[in-house]
Amino acid sequence: MPVGSSIILGTGSYAPERVLTNGELAQIVDTSDEWILTRSGIRERRIAAPGEATSDMAVQAALRALADAGLGVSDIDLLILATFTPDLRLPSAASIVHNKLGLPQTVASFDLNAACSGFIYALDTADAMLSSGRYSRALVIGAEKMSSVIDWSDRTTCVLFGDGAGAVIMGKSEDSNRGLAGTKVGTLGNGVDLLCIPSGTDTISPSRDPVASGGQFIRMKGREVFKLAVRGMEESSRNILEQHGVLASHIALVIPHQANLRIIEALAQYLEIPMERFFVNVDRYGNTSAASIPMAMDEARRARRIKSGDVILLVAFGAGLTYGSALIRW
Ligand code: ACO
Repeated sequence: MPVGSSIILGTGSYAPERVLTNGELAQIVDTSDEWILTRSGIRERRIAAPGEATSDMAVQAALRALADAGLGVSDIDLLILATFTPDLRLPSAASIVHNKLGLPQTVASFDLNAACSGFIYALDTADAMLSSGRYSRALVIGAEKMSSVIDWSDRTTCVLFGDGAGAVIMGKSEDSNRGLAGTKVGTLGNGVDLLCIPSGTDTISPSRDPVASGGQFIRMKGREVFKLAVRGMEESSRNILEQHGVLASHIALVIPHQANLRIIEALAQYLEIPMERFFVNVDRYGNTSAASIPMAMDEARRARRIKSGDVILLVAFGAGLTYGSALIRW
């Protein structure tokens, strides 16, 4: 499998200390540990501390990724933060992270919103920008404070999500056998209403106060999203494998977006890749949206589930509806 010129030089992740268990949620809404576990595979999730913003979690993950790569802030010239839960509407959370990290002013920094596929979109973007020759090292972060957009009285959504951040440092590969082989991203724009936060600058019903009607919270048609997520992740995986001439049996580890264990199991079945070759941590963090893949990648590395030379498949699906996949030879 030929690789391109971008390589991951380091990874880092951060999860807030506060653990929220299914049992605790059952005291707030009409649900149970058994329902949540059997329908989603989630046992617990992390919740940001009061005053802890997306940028704070992003900074922690970034510092760990920089340390892992053996680099400092002056080595970075591009910062892409995948999130749809920025601290503020304006400026971007990336600007706030830039300031908190003390990055040089020459560093280009921006947010990227592709919901749960955000990290793969960010990898795709960073790869293109690095390949242009105008940037040499990118800090790519996925960070999400899902607890800020959850309606804690809606049992169909509040049990599924959690907070966290993951980051990677990307640079140029000096080894033609290791690095990012490719990315593939896309959008099913006709699925906008299936998963959304209705409040925005132009709400669907301008006569209604979107905040008073709970429009600032995430709304999801779970059953429809479930089916499209399985199909979308399968197609995206097949397309990228085919494009790069890689057989499913050559994949050492799949790091899928961690939304629901049943989605991951269905994907494993359709791709005919055994579950042992999927990295799963949804049981401990729930769905952390754009943070889920970089958090899982960092955990997989630290658990020695990724070895040098392994072919890794990343695949995600989320609001938009967006999807994406990436192939890496580690
Ligand atoms: N506790 C108990 N009962 C519940 C709960 C709950 N927390 N939530 C829903 N139910 C009930 C429903 O009301 C329904 O009851 P009814 O049959 O009497 O109407 C029943 O359980 C079944 O509900 P379904 O929605 O059909 O349950 P399903 O098996 O589809 O599981 C789930 C729901 C977990 C949400 C699943 O559909 C899912 O994971 N969907 C995909 C989520 C996803 O992948 N999102 C992608 C990205 S997210 C992003 O981009 C931000």
